[in-house]
Amino acid sequence: MEKKSAGIIERDHAAVASTIYRYTDIAFERGEGVYLYDFEGRKYLDFVAGIATMNVGHCHPEVVEAITEQARTLLHGACHIGYMEPYVVLMEALKAIAPGDLKNGKGIFVNSGSEAVETAIKLARFITKRPMILAFTDSFHGRTMGAAALTASNTLYRRNLTGLFSGVSHTPYPYCYRCPLKHESADKCGLACLNLIEKTLETVVPPEDLAAIIIEPIAGEGGYIIPPDGFLQGLREICDRHGILLIADEVQSGLGRTGKMFAVEHWDVEPDMVCMAKALGGGLPLGAVLAKAELMDAWPPAAQGTTFGGNPVACRAGSATLKIIQKENLMPNAVEVGNYIQQRFHKAQKELPMIGDIRGKGLMIAVELINADGSPAGEIIKSLVKEMSSNGIVLTKCGASSIRFAPPLTITREQASKGVDIIIEILRKHQW
Ligand SMILES: Cc1ncc(COP(=O)(O)O)c(C=O)c1O
Repeated sequence: MEKKSAGIIERDHAAVASTIYRYTDIAFERGEGVYLYDFEGRKYLDFVAGIATMNVGHCHPEVVEAITEQARTLLHGACHIGYMEPYVVLMEALKAIAPGDLKNGKGIFVNSGSEAVETAIKLARFITKRPMILAFTDSFHGRTMGAAALTASNTLYRRNLTGLFSGVSHTPYPYCYRCPLKHESADKCGLACLNLIEKTLETVVPPEDLAAIIIEPIAGEGGYIIPPDGFLQGLREICDRHGILLIADEVQSGLGRTGKMFAVEHWDVEPDMVCMAKALGGGLPLGAVLAKAELMDAWPPAAQGTTFGGNPVACRAGSATLKIIQKENLMPNAVEVGNYIQQRFHKAQKELPMIGDIRGKGLMIAVELINADGSPAGEIIKSLVKEMSSNGIVLTKCGASSIRFAPPLTITREQASKGVDIIIEILRKHQW
């Protein structure tokens, strides 16, 4: 029995592309709630939920039931061939929870977060007839060519490709802990990052060439970075002034993760389009773009499409997921347990100066580790993540050196507490 996990890993190394990086050496056999199990029956507390995806926990019985029932009824119909009830039911549910005017919007399903981003930028360019998109450093929007052109959280994702990325300009994400403009604090800088965008529009990208600004309202892969108050509102105002569309990439931050259905709601900002994926399919591949109705209505039939997007099984899983988030009060739970996790690390920070910054909303939390000189502790973070997994905790990093917390929103304070105890103990061993 002991050999099963090891055997899978060995066969995987021989057959699977090495570009698929693994943060842990665990072979998962099954998942239940907030726990994952390997083939030897070892139990792991899942602090990352399949990269912020299993918001209602692993194999929630109502999601499994919806999938099973739909699998017996219709596996695939293709949205271009006919109409499918699960497709429209989920789109109506998304409209009902959408921010602002998107409640009256229209949407399209695709298969992934990258594809949702591709769809949004295609629509923006089609509608405005403008070629450029403005994106942010520290942002991750996906790995397909259009999405990768926007992604700027790490040059690894762009190397040897940049010559093919046209029509994209970047501006600094307001990462206040490590201000890209070297200001001391967000209170004193007068939102200098916003002023820089104004400058960019005056000197680099003519606004009449700019179709859209795309932003993760909380940067995900780039380090769970929270923009200062006023930033997103300011961005909305710039967009309105120049007829630029504002696209919110809520692939990671959306659907309850931050304690609100969409992270933009923390700042009362209404985007023109919102991209979703990850939690949307309840564990099955599903993405979506919801846009203001006048934008979607101007896209002619068949200008955009997909074979599998809006697959009925994935849509049923998505509808079940949304219902559970609401019925089980998972957003208030995310706020309560998330605040508790942050408090624990604030307390630990007093004796562990390697904890540089603690930030987050709901259950989207980063604990940024630093060296004695304040630089990111990038060398140690990957080995720490491996050590945590050998001690029964599954998680990943984000940004240069942050521990990323994105557990299922079902996690209880007691479960979180046990995991945090283990993590703090490991950090204590490595404190400089
Ligand atoms: C904010 C954001 N956008 C887009 C993507 C790409 O999604 P996918 O991996 O489903 O293509 C991700 C994935 O991590 C993401 O976090």
